[in-house]
Amino acid sequence: MGCAVHQPSRIPVGQPGPRRAAVVARVRRQQARPSCRPVGSRAGVALDRMAAALAEHHGPVTIDLGCGTGESTIARATADPSRLVIGIDRSRARLHRHGPVPTNAHLVRANIDDVLATATAVGWTFDEALVLYPNPYPKPGQQSRRLYGRPALLDLLAVARTIVMRTNWAVYAHEFAMAVEAAGGPKVAAQRWAPASAGSAFERKYLAAGHALWAVMVDQNDL
Ligand SMILES: C[S@@+](CC[C@H](N)C(=O)[O-])C[C@H]1O[C@@H](n2cnc3c(N)ncnc32)[C@H](O)[C@@H]1O
Repeated sequence: MGCAVHQPSRIPVGQPGPRRAAVVARVRRQQARPSCRPVGSRAGVALDRMAAALAEHHGPVTIDLGCGTGESTIARATADPSRLVIGIDRSRARLHRHGPVPTNAHLVRANIDDVLATATAVGWTFDEALVLYPNPYPKPGQQSRRLYGRPALLDLLAVARTIVMRTNWAVYAHEFAMAVEAAGGPKVAAQRWAPASAGSAFERKYLAAGHALWAVMVDQNDL
């Protein structure tokens, strides 16, 4: 599965700026109609792997949602050997393009919506969720496909104590922050993100192309 890589010149088409009312309305619809997502057999295998890793580990846990080639998963696990880091991506091709994986990291092929729905249902919680450069689905008709337009956002807030979301699209960052607050999370704001070095493959690509980057940090520890 490829992911839509968008250039800044394409972004404003049809959506000139963040639209709070539409974002809040979509969150309200998700809240009124919680998803009963059927989990397929392939997801079952991946979820069993996750369950085994979580059962064996007694320490902080990070999930890296849409980890792509797993670069950020491996970097996070290497930086903190006490931490279990689980990278999740639906693309077999991307997941096979990685370097050595430390023992405290796992790369799992699954749909992130399945993982989050299962985590909510069975009570898995995560200290940290990384959502680095999620597919933007930039067309106006694609809003319900964005992470913050799907039931997955409610599950994400239910299972992750902190969330780090990064994007190269300002509208996505602002609307993500609006959706977090509308869904009952803390009031957060999109901030410019200017790292000294890239934390993922897409971050490197966007930095090299001179894109402005945005981050939303959600901390629910004090809620
Ligand atoms: C733009 S890439 C970013 C990859 C990586 N996080 C990075 O920063 O380099 C988005 C990734 O999310 C994955 N993805 C998109 N939707 C997904 C879903 N519903 N479940 C699992 N992976 C998904 C795609 O396969 C792709 O690898």
